[in-house]
Amino acid sequence: MSHSLPLLLLLLSVVSTASATTIGVTYVPAPSQPPPEEVASTLRSLKITAVRLPVAEPSVIRAFFYTNISLFLSIPNSLIHSISTNRSIASLWLYNHVVPFYPRALITAISVGTNVLADGNASSADVLLRAVRNVHQSLVDLGIRKITVSTTFSFVNIMMTSFPPSSAEFEEPTNNVILKPLLQFLSETNSSFFVNLYPYFVYKLRPEIPIGFALFQEETYNFRDDAITGVRYRNLFDLMVDAVIAALTISGHENIPVVVTETGWPSCDSANDVEARPIYAEMYLRGLVYHLQSGRGTPLRKEGVAEAYIYEVFDTNTTFTNLPAMRVGTGQNWGFLHPNMSMKFEIDFSGCFSTTIGALTEITVLGFLLLVSGLLLF
Ligand SMILES: *[C@@H]1O[C@H](CO)[C@@H](O)[C@H](O)[C@H]1NC(C)=O
Ligand SMILES: *[C@@H]1O[C@H](CO)[C@@H](O)[C@H](O)[C@H]1NC(C)=O
Ligand SMILES: *[C@@H]1O[C@H](CO)[C@@H](O)[C@H](O)[C@H]1NC(C)=O
Ligand SMILES: *[C@@H]1O[C@H](CO)[C@@H](O)[C@H](O)[C@H]1NC(C)=O
Ligand SMILES: *[C@@H]1O[C@H](CO)[C@@H](O)[C@H](O)[C@H]1NC(C)=O
Ligand SMILES: *[C@@H]1O[C@H](CO)[C@@H](O)[C@H](O)[C@H]1NC(C)=O
Repeated sequence: MSHSLPLLLLLLSVVSTASATTIGVTYVPAPSQPPPEEVASTLRSLKITAVRLPVAEPSVIRAFFYTNISLFLSIPNSLIHSISTNRSIASLWLYNHVVPFYPRALITAISVGTNVLADGNASSADVLLRAVRNVHQSLVDLGIRKITVSTTFSFVNIMMTSFPPSSAEFEEPTNNVILKPLLQFLSETNSSFFVNLYPYFVYKLRPEIPIGFALFQEETYNFRDDAITGVRYRNLFDLMVDAVIAALTISGHENIPVVVTETGWPSCDSANDVEARPIYAEMYLRGLVYHLQSGRGTPLRKEGVAEAYIYEVFDTNTTFTNLPAMRVGTGQNWGFLHPNMSMKFEIDFSGCFSTTIGALTEITVLGFLLLVSGLLLF
């Protein structure tokens, strides 16, 4: 068996390089909730390593000092126009939200606007890019080079086709007018593509999709085949991520990291949507976390998405504005913590359990391969 030991070591080193996605959460503070310091320490004890703050309040940023939790900040859409015309406005924002806190607060990303396309003002394309550039340049001027600057899109607003994923393309004219120049900028600055990606909304648009496929339920009948690549998808999340990756590739930017800035499932809905149920929210979040921790990536990108932020920590009776025609996404609860900070349902963010199981599974498979190769050698 002298041939096998080096082979085993080689194979084990392959296993250990599989890197899991960073799993973060979106946190929107409200007066009805515990103070941000308590929330920060609870998130830390849950082993959550990244937090997205759609509303970047200085007092909330300060609550994350020395927690080693990375922060994703957003600049409100209402500032985009002035930031695009005057770089001093960008600097001013950074002086209020970044300079006093960084790096004690581990700010790693800034989104200049969120779902800017949803207001239907595509004429603001050059405005958006100029604003992103101004924020980036202001950071460079401040000597801060480790913060990624981009803008956040919503999957349903940018994808023209998404099935089969390998033929997915971005919507025109958004693609030519907004995305292409932005992607060029992201490549040049080593930044990431930010996208809100909700299997829930795609499921609501396409009711023929089996609910289990949207909820990470691995059943034999829950799959979709991509006839072009011959790849079998076991969940809608991977299919949507690969649609984004295929569209990036067609645009000539296949290596830009993808950050899923929001994803989740509602547990209740003011209009009584029957799919907005606690049991489904639990299935989705547990399935998502387990899947991302496994480090298996997606069929088109073996490292998968770089980061994924669960929407959201506490219920905020959210109304989404990106799908006005759908009559879903109104007055919904998406949180996974009660206001007393106990979990609505158990989600293991620590990754201990699934990493062990994942590794064991792979070692079993590798052991089998080793056995086969051993048989071939002798
Ligand atoms: C901080 O977090 C990073 C990534 O989550 C981890 O690798 C590192 O060990 C942490 N450092 C400390 C001091 O906890
Ligand atoms: C840019 O903004 C700064 C800060 O608000 C202001 O003092 C300055 O006059 C503005 N410049 C122009 C050209 O509007
Ligand atoms: C659309 O964008 C232009 C240029 O940024 C701006 O002047 C205008 O007010 C916007 N219109 C609406 C309806 O938001
Ligand atoms: C982007 O990353 C590459 C490889 O890590 C590095 O060589 C390059 O200098 C980076 N560019 C910028 C603008 O940070
Ligand atoms: C939640 O939002 C919906 C839609 O905006 C509203 O009708 C409802 O009254 C809100 N519920 C609570 C408890 O605030
Ligand atoms: C926290 O609140 C939830 C919902 O109101 C309740 O079911 C649970 O028992 C509470 N937990 C503690 C420790 O108070």
